Amino acid sequence: MKFAFFDTKPYDKISFQKYGEEKGITFKFYETKLTPDTVSLASGCDGVCIFVNDNASAEVIESLHKLGVKVIALRCAGYNNVDVKSAYGKIHVVHVPAYSPYAVAEHAMAMLLTSIRRIHKAYIRTRDFNFSLHGLTGFDLHGKTVGVIGTGKIGRVFIDICRGFGMNVIAYDKYPDKSSDINYVSLEDLLEKSDIISLHCPLTKETHHLINSETVDKMKKGVVIVNTSRGALIDAEVLLEGIKSRKIGAACLDVYEEESDVFFEDFSGHIINDDILARLISMPNVIVTSHQGFLTEEALNNIAETTAQNIIDIFNTGGCENELCYHCGNIENCKKKRNCKCF
Ligand code: NAI
Repeated sequence: MKFAFFDTKPYDKISFQKYGEEKGITFKFYETKLTPDTVSLASGCDGVCIFVNDNASAEVIESLHKLGVKVIALRCAGYNNVDVKSAYGKIHVVHVPAYSPYAVAEHAMAMLLTSIRRIHKAYIRTRDFNFSLHGLTGFDLHGKTVGVIGTGKIGRVFIDICRGFGMNVIAYDKYPDKSSDINYVSLEDLLEKSDIISLHCPLTKETHHLINSETVDKMKKGVVIVNTSRGALIDAEVLLEGIKSRKIGAACLDVYEEESDVFFEDFSGHIINDDILARLISMPNVIVTSHQGFLTEEALNNIAETTAQNIIDIFNTGGCENELCYHCGNIENCKKKRNCKCF
């Protein structure tokens, strides 16, 4: 089996070569992203393997279908960049629903601690032998209220971590797990009561710009916002205004609305065209990491192993438990015997 592997980074190759060899899959590694212009690179391949900023729009899916591609294998959990409806009946779409919720949740806490204890400032100071503490005063997490939006795999690990710090955890989820011990509140309550808000829900039409001027108005003054989920959950212009007006006390961003143009690449010798990102990065109370929440050895191995297994399952059995299948409304007669995710 041959798969065109888009948006390849050096760390991808190690784990995918290993599991590809084990399962009999040849990955053709391309540094370029999947776009309408690069889709022809998949010619002669059985499938494509893509990441968060590749473009699998209706147009790209149509081209892939014409090329005879049978599988889009996402090597990530989120699938907002794939037009799953267009793929229905043409191309199987599989993803990696969980590879290490700890990687992302721990990164969220690492960013939060860095921000509120000014570690990013202290690191730079001491490297320059500046041992002054002026301006480095932080605050205790113990006793603070953290509002977690989205209590799935990552949100729950983050909740456990926060509880370990002695924080008061409240949560909002569209589909709350009533059997859990999570203290669910309404979104409005969460916005009003939280000292820190951490986003762990997927990007959907409903959650697009969940953090907007109306929701920011309801938040406490000085709130810290942590986003390790998807950039477009936050209206970046509103975030910038909130930081400038001091309504938002700090922001920790592992994802950014327009990240696909810049994240994962080295622009250190260039002038960044995105004024909002440049202004956010210039703020002393904003920390940006470039979508690295997933980047641990454990997660990379799990991603490669699950992706290779997903591909094998589809070609051997025609179905896969990690298949994303558009809700056709015909559940009773589903030929896939419901062994895929219907949404
Ligand atoms: P999950 O599917 O286990 O949990 C998502 C939770 O969000 C579910 O409990 C769901 O009920 C809830 N939800 C859905 N719609 C909602 C809404 N409208 N409002 C509130 N809650 C809603 O997903 P998981 O594994 O916890 O991942 C969460 C997100 O983290 C992913 O969607 C992805 O965007 C992001 N992610 C980021 C990574 C990074 O490297 N920064 C890596 C992996 C995932």
